[in-house]
Amino acid sequence: MSGLIRIEVMHGVNLDMLGKREPEHYGTLTLDELERQIAAFAGELGIETRFFHTNFEGEYVEHLHSLRELVDGIVLNPGAWTHYSWAIHDALATAALPAVEVHMSDVKAREAWRRLSVVEDLCVMSVSGKGIEGYRLALERLREEFGGRVI
Ligand code: DQA
Repeated sequence: MSGLIRIEVMHGVNLDMLGKREPEHYGTLTLDELERQIAAFAGELGIETRFFHTNFEGEYVEHLHSLRELVDGIVLNPGAWTHYSWAIHDALATAALPAVEVHMSDVKAREAWRRLSVVEDLCVMSVSGKGIEGYRLALERLREEFGGRVI
């Protein structure tokens, strides 16, 4: 394997509403602005990013199925699916790639139903409550997975 580490960043349900929804939890950046910021973090770390968003659970599952040969790792924020989608859990297991879960808000400090993450057991790290900085931490953690070097 040679070249930059390739990371897929997958946004789930309702994340296209960033900038318009509950800024007290999710800040004021739009999804486009968030992606530009993540790409900038990635550039500093020598990581190549690709981005995916859908509001349809089956599309999210099918996208996970497609990733095996295409990328080296996954950063995922499945939105509310995090808390109940065993289908996404199983698709992430099938992808069999190092993954980090990110939530902009502090899901453990909000409603009780947000405390469960069904993907947490498949992730090398889970970050929540750190806003966009969580994505930088996720990329740094995945870079460590590959020995912190260009592969
Ligand atoms: C979220 C937290 C989820 O509980 C919520 O449903 C979201 C966004 C976050 O980034 O904080 O849609 O994943």
